[in-house]
Amino acid sequence: MHTELEAAERFRTLAAALRESAASPSIAAMAERAAADELRHASACRELVEHFGGRAPEGPSIVVKPLAPRDVAPEQRLLYEVVALACVTETLSTALLAELIAPADDPLCKKVMRSILRDEVNHSRLGWAYLAERHVPGAPDCVGPHLRRMLIDTLGADFWSPPAAQSAEAELAGLGQLPHAERQRVVRETLQQVIFPGLERFGIDSALGRDWCAT
Ligand SMILES: [Fe+2]
Repeated sequence: MHTELEAAERFRTLAAALRESAASPSIAAMAERAAADELRHASACRELVEHFGGRAPEGPSIVVKPLAPRDVAPEQRLLYEVVALACVTETLSTALLAELIAPADDPLCKKVMRSILRDEVNHSRLGWAYLAERHVPGAPDCVGPHLRRMLIDTLGADFWSPPAAQSAEAELAGLGQLPHAERQRVVRETLQQVIFPGLERFGIDSALGRDWCAT
């Protein structure tokens, strides 16, 4: 999953690509807003680090590579980027954040997470709105064949491995960090109950994603 600064750069690039495409201006505007939101999230996270007595590192300059693998055809690359960034990553991030807020016991941490959550919901909506707008019944499915790789790139190839023993997990639960087994549960439920059915509604076959989830 990406950092806020990386997400900001990805949404900025996506907004420019959407402006040049046939997508409606309102969807490109959502991507521009998302880029600005992610920059705000990065500063809020830096403030949190300082709140806990740390020193936030200077933001590195970010260069993002396209999410779409090279073998995705040029006319399909924008769709791939939108699905990977908004429908998958932002929907998962929304579900994980929602789960983190309840156990968080630090008031500032909780407040920051609530405000980020409100934005993340809109970032994922951008993806679903784009799919709804461009979906033509019966059109070839150019995301389904790549879904397994998209999920591995997003979550890591060893995401379903048993969690390593981590003594700090319980302590970190109050500070916005879910234990790995909980992360696995939330991700599995969100994929199976929200993301896969959502993609299928727009003609994207989720079988390869469902297989990956089951392994
Ligand atoms: Fe986001």
